[in-house]
Amino acid sequence: MDFFELAAGRRSVRAYLDTPVTEEQVQRILACGHGAPSGGNLKEWRFIVIRDPEQKRRVIDATYSRNNESNPPQEWLAEAPVLIAVAADLSVAAGRYGRHGIDSLVYLDCACAVQNMLLAACSLGLSSCFVSGFREHQMGEALGLPPELEAVALLPLGYAKVPGVKRPGAPVEDVTFFERYGEGPAAP
Ligand SMILES: Cc1cc2nc3c(=O)[nH]c(=O)nc-3n(C[C@H](O)[C@H](O)[C@H](O)COP(=O)(O)O)c2cc1C
Repeated sequence: MDFFELAAGRRSVRAYLDTPVTEEQVQRILACGHGAPSGGNLKEWRFIVIRDPEQKRRVIDATYSRNNESNPPQEWLAEAPVLIAVAADLSVAAGRYGRHGIDSLVYLDCACAVQNMLLAACSLGLSSCFVSGFREHQMGEALGLPPELEAVALLPLGYAKVPGVKRPGAPVEDVTFFERYGEGPAAP
C-alpha cells in the first residue's frame, strides 16, 4: 500500500478477531519499531511481547479506561492475540542526557518506535492502538521491569473485528502556520 494511503488510513482498533498473529509478523513489526529514530541513537526502548493469557490478564489489570485511574481496565485488549509493551530504559537516557533524557527524550523516542509499529502493523493488514492508560507502577510489576525501566505504551496486535472509524478533527490548515505561530501563508 502507498505510504500516504497507509498513514491516512491507519485507525485505532479496539475489537479483534481471534485469527492468530504469526511470529514472523511480530518480528517484522518489532524490527520497524527498532528502526525508528532516537536521540543520540540510544534506542532505549525495550519491547515485551505477550501472548500468554495469564500474563495478558496481569497486564490488562494494570490498565484503566477513560483517563481515570479508578476506572475499570480496558477489557477490549483481551481480544488481541498479541500485546506488545514498550518500556523505556531511563538509566540509558539519563546516562547520556541527564534530566533532559528522562524528562522528555525517552518518551519522544518511544513514541517514534510506537508510531513505526502502528504503521508496520497496518501495512501487514493488522490493526493496533496506542494505549497509555495504565498505572505505570502496576504495569512495571506485571511486566517484571527493573526500577530503571518505565512502561510507556501498550500495543495490541490483531485483525480488526470492527474497522476503526475516522474521528473528526481540525483540518491540517488550522494547525499549520508559516514563519511564526498565528500567521497564515503570504498573500499571493
Ligand atoms: C499517547 C496516546 C495514548 C493513548 N492511549 C489510549 C488508551 O489508553 N486507550 C485507547 O483506547 N486509546 C488510546 N489512544 C488512542 C487515541 O484515542 C486515538 O489515537 C485517537 O482517538 C485518534 O484516533 P485514531 O488513532 O483512530 O486516528 C492513545 C493515543 C495516544 C497517541
